[in-house]
Amino acid sequence: MPVKSATAPRAAQELSVKPASKNARVVPAKPGSPPNAVPDSTTWSRGSVLSVTSLTPKTVSEILSLAGELEQQDPLERARRLAKRKIALLFYESSTRTRTSFELAAKGLGADTTLVSSLSSSIEKGETLKDTGLTLRALGAEAIILRHPSSGAPWLLERETRLPVLNAGDGMHEHPSQALLDLRTMLNHLRPGTTTVAADTLAGVNVVITGDILHSRVARSNMLLLPKLGARVILCGPPPLLPDLAADIPGVEIERDFPRALAQAQIVMMLRIQAERLAGLQLDLEQYKAKYQLTEALLAAHAPQAILLHPGPIIRGLELTGEVADGPQSRILEQVHNGVAIRMALVYRALTLPEREVRA
Ligand code: CP
Repeated sequence: MPVKSATAPRAAQELSVKPASKNARVVPAKPGSPPNAVPDSTTWSRGSVLSVTSLTPKTVSEILSLAGELEQQDPLERARRLAKRKIALLFYESSTRTRTSFELAAKGLGADTTLVSSLSSSIEKGETLKDTGLTLRALGAEAIILRHPSSGAPWLLERETRLPVLNAGDGMHEHPSQALLDLRTMLNHLRPGTTTVAADTLAGVNVVITGDILHSRVARSNMLLLPKLGARVILCGPPPLLPDLAADIPGVEIERDFPRALAQAQIVMMLRIQAERLAGLQLDLEQYKAKYQLTEALLAAHAPQAILLHPGPIIRGLELTGEVADGPQSRILEQVHNGVAIRMALVYRALTLPEREVRA
């Protein structure tokens, strides 16, 4: 289930895009060029963030530092940074946190945003992702923020539009901006004041991720990012939601006993059971709660110093109790808050890094 490579996952191919020639020349999209020209080369935008696999500690540091700088900047000055630039938010799945924070981030930098959602656009009439992307480009969009139910869709969109694309969650694959805001929240707790990271910044830190790992793009992005910075990621959950092969990722282990996992944690990350993706799985929710629900008693007994993270939406009474979500160890709303600064940095990079290079 985990995707280790920085290349587009298999599902992108299922969206029926022919691979472009390796030697294709790069043709940058220039202002004034025909907006409906179909790109013919394999290109990438340095400002795109499709996966955490391509993020080095140096790049992560740059994003964290820029997030801090933008957050501290006077709002009027900040709004001049991307004044009147155009950003499209293209959402094929529902979202509260990611959509709102990307929109607030872009607007905070002065950009104009437009939201295209699958429920109120020509996507409902059968328009393809490629055609919707090219349409947004023809309308002047300079970057696209995409949430899509198919793993790999952001790669397709980037290749077809040659615009910078920010992956706001693709199927069961990745959610890079969530992992970055999770990292910022962890650093605030573990290494206050730190905005630069290196391969050993999280050495000695155990991050326990519990719940529906199988369907979680948040878990995948975190388990691919955090070990690069020295963290040990411990996954916890029952086999139907946590296959053994998850432990094949370097720096990632499995501990199926929840109290034993909690006892090792500085960071406890709980995940929602994704009922909408459970079809075909044998899972008794009452048994699940008995073994894996995070309660005040469990936290107090096994991880009294740890902080609690959850990407949201939380389901009170299922993966965790309401008391825990509202309790003193919870940093769930701090995560949401950090999303705006991180996404400001990602949006700013998307529109300001040099245009195109051929993917190696
Ligand atoms: N964490 C997250 O992706 O939440 P939303 O689905 O509300 O965007």
